[in-house]
Amino acid sequence: MIPIARPLIDEDEKEAVLEVLDSGHIAQGPKVREFEERFAELCGVKYAIATTSGTSALHVALLAHEIGPGDEVITSPFSFIASANCALFVSARPVFADIEAEFFTIDPDEISKRVTSKTKAILPIHLYGQPCDMNAINQIAQKHDLLILEDACQAHGATYQGLPVGSFGTACFSFYPTKNITTIEGGMITTDDAEIAERARLIRDHGSPQRYEHIVLGYNLRMNDVQAAIGLVQLPKLQEWNSKRQANAAYLTAELSKIEGIMPPKIREGSQHVFHQYTIRINDRDKAAQKLREKGIGVGVHYPSPIHKQPLYQELGYHDSLPLSEIASKEVLSLPVHPSLTKADLDQIVEAISTI
Ligand SMILES: Cc1ncc(COP(=O)(O)O)c(C=O)c1O
Repeated sequence: MIPIARPLIDEDEKEAVLEVLDSGHIAQGPKVREFEERFAELCGVKYAIATTSGTSALHVALLAHEIGPGDEVITSPFSFIASANCALFVSARPVFADIEAEFFTIDPDEISKRVTSKTKAILPIHLYGQPCDMNAINQIAQKHDLLILEDACQAHGATYQGLPVGSFGTACFSFYPTKNITTIEGGMITTDDAEIAERARLIRDHGSPQRYEHIVLGYNLRMNDVQAAIGLVQLPKLQEWNSKRQANAAYLTAELSKIEGIMPPKIREGSQHVFHQYTIRINDRDKAAQKLREKGIGVGVHYPSPIHKQPLYQELGYHDSLPLSEIASKEVLSLPVHPSLTKADLDQIVEAISTI
């Protein structure tokens, strides 16, 4: 079976973990601080705050921006559930704007239609590693004085018109094992705003600027030094791994473009798409997925239901019609694109698709 994702853990990650375990300092400490500094450099921002997951990074980021009851956050329904749930965590209301059919990312025109006096933030998601249309989103944010909270959980190292994702406002990343780099579980908030960074650090750690002093309501959402040590070894490899993903994607696109009934992913002009997922549109998706699995190709569906159609959101009274997201959820199929694929693997994937 060619897996849909494969975490790359080598001897140097293992050595880094053992070094931390032997050091006696295994909770949040110097490795986390160093990982935050290196990650801030990647995103070209002043501050990075590590957390336990992408989900907790989103939660902390919204709390740090004091988004709460009565506030609306405009986001895409075509994502992993955490992108919208973070608004619910703080008793704000996620408002869904449909996607651009070509890129699967939030459509700025649809955002504009949903801005109200309650809107506090736009939460664009750089889905599959593809940056959103940030110029248009920035313009809307400026016009209506809104925050931008990027969900960059799938887009480490991606750029939009030369600028790194994670540098357009406050942003959140995930280091889950399938992501372009991993810390097993883990997350990161990036920002240029000193006050937000400070508040995020407090919220992540019981609202505590020093031991047993608690000035705001906080949680325990700290990354530990074992995780950060893995991240520090992975981070310098990101560029090379992203290049391999891009080369694999280019090969698949060249070959799959020859096959009728398949629409390979498009790359937004001026962007570096880092192909966390390589996602095609295909007719009769579920049957295709089953056949490919039978042929030994690990495929994924990201995502089989848009968020507003999830039972949780139906229960909350979401009855929006967001046709492009609804169609996409029936047509998308992710193929393996990870850096450890060989040319033979890529050819096997193409051969399998051409014969279903
Ligand atoms: C777009 C998006 N947002 C948020 C998350 C949440 O990240 P985590 O799984 O690290 O909590 C993910 C993870 O899959 C994601 O893909």
